[in-house]
Amino acid sequence: MTDFAGRLRLGVNIDHVATVRNARGGAYPDPLRAARIAEAAGADGITAHLREDRRHISDADIDGLMEVLTVPLNFEMAATPEMQAIALRHKPHAVCIVPERREERTTEGGLEVAREENHLAHFIAPLREAGCRVSIFIAADQRQIDAAHRIGAQVIELHTGAYCDAHAEGRIAERDAELDRLRDMSRYAHGLGLEVHAGHGLTYDTVQPVAAFPEVMELNIGHFIIGEAIFLGLEPAIQQMRQLMEEARA
Ligand code: PXP
Repeated sequence: MTDFAGRLRLGVNIDHVATVRNARGGAYPDPLRAARIAEAAGADGITAHLREDRRHISDADIDGLMEVLTVPLNFEMAATPEMQAIALRHKPHAVCIVPERREERTTEGGLEVAREENHLAHFIAPLREAGCRVSIFIAADQRQIDAAHRIGAQVIELHTGAYCDAHAEGRIAERDAELDRLRDMSRYAHGLGLEVHAGHGLTYDTVQPVAAFPEVMELNIGHFIIGEAIFLGLEPAIQQMRQLMEEARA
């Protein structure tokens, strides 16, 4: 398959604007304001993860995003009945199913699709029927990709965390091996007809090799951008990321 249509999309994850807000329990900084600035800065979508424990994004944030966004919302959620009901009420453009453990600091691994194939196939069917694009957040592992394909997901998002961690810790051989795995699995998933996204832990230093994979259609990036916004402002921080992505793609 050679249909590498369209430019590489950037989804800006605004969870950590809500993390800072929630540290004091007040109303600012406002994730909706961040979303509007991200749109103006060239984000192609907004990503937000409503966690079961509501540690960052709240139900009211999702209500507000659905009301004000002019770009698509990528709604990240665990495969629970509560989250399914919320997604079916809002019908966001995309729903990304992620694993969730309360004790983790962030989404540490990909979803175990292969082990829960039956449950997940039934879980995503109504979301697809409601018109949401269903994405599954997984490791770059052929077994998981095959399972995501079998359950009827339209999109997979490859977890780039192991690649980014290896880079940050100077484990160069492992970083390069992770990158090879991401490249091979992007190609493999694309060959099955899946749309390929990637994300987690990407920075200005690590984004370009992943952005260069022609099969990858979207990167979802949050924590680094929000951190960088402290120094640069949100709009320039996003513009810089976009520019690096475009350079890598060219
Ligand atoms: N994609 C998914 C599925 C995620 O769960 C996250 C983190 O919430 C991201 C992308 C963005 O990761 P980061 O905030 O590390 O850029």
